[in-house]
Amino acid sequence: MTTNIAVLVSGRGSNLQSIIDNIENGYIKDAKVSVVVSDVGDAYALERARNHGITDVFVDPSDYSGKQEYEKEVMEVLKDNDVGLVLLAGYMRLVGKDLIAAYRNRIINIHPALLPSFKGLHAQQQAFDYGVKVSGCTVHFVDEGMDTGPIIIQKCVPVLDTDTADDLAARILEQEHKIFPEAVKLFVEGKLKVEGRIVVHT
Ligand code: GRF
Repeated sequence: MTTNIAVLVSGRGSNLQSIIDNIENGYIKDAKVSVVVSDVGDAYALERARNHGITDVFVDPSDYSGKQEYEKEVMEVLKDNDVGLVLLAGYMRLVGKDLIAAYRNRIINIHPALLPSFKGLHAQQQAFDYGVKVSGCTVHFVDEGMDTGPIIIQKCVPVLDTDTADDLAARILEQEHKIFPEAVKLFVEGKLKVEGRIVVHT
């Protein structure tokens, strides 16, 4: 059975692209990006979706009285597209409790640091400024907290003495584009089991 995937985005969408590419090249089987939803009207990610014939939807937060109402509309879109997995790929909003409850352990986020260090915005810059010697990225299920959900995959990268924060971000991004599709593949194949906050690869 095909898993219909929704990807929630706010920006350039390079992680969205990595998912699309890995479905098209057959690495991820039995899955389809059915819809891309953005909270930003001119997000380049929407164009990437259109380039691949994927339905793109802009849900304008300013049209709604608050997060709950806004996410009600997002959930309608997910329902209309019979979505079984939601990916947050550079989606710059905290997901509310109703959406999490509706898709418990079926929402996956990519974060550009080794959680639980450097949660939130500008994680690569935070790590760089802290002076860590390794950083990396984390794919995790989404729970009610900010970047706190059960960890699926992590990948380390070195921080070099010659690095700028941008160099580090680029090195991390390269790994994001590998571990996000890897996690999606495991999910789609039914190989992820969540036991408390531990994710077991079966
Ligand atoms: C990535 O670094 C991701 O880890 C973070 O936001 C950035 C999105 O980049 N959550 P892109 O839109 O996928 O290119």
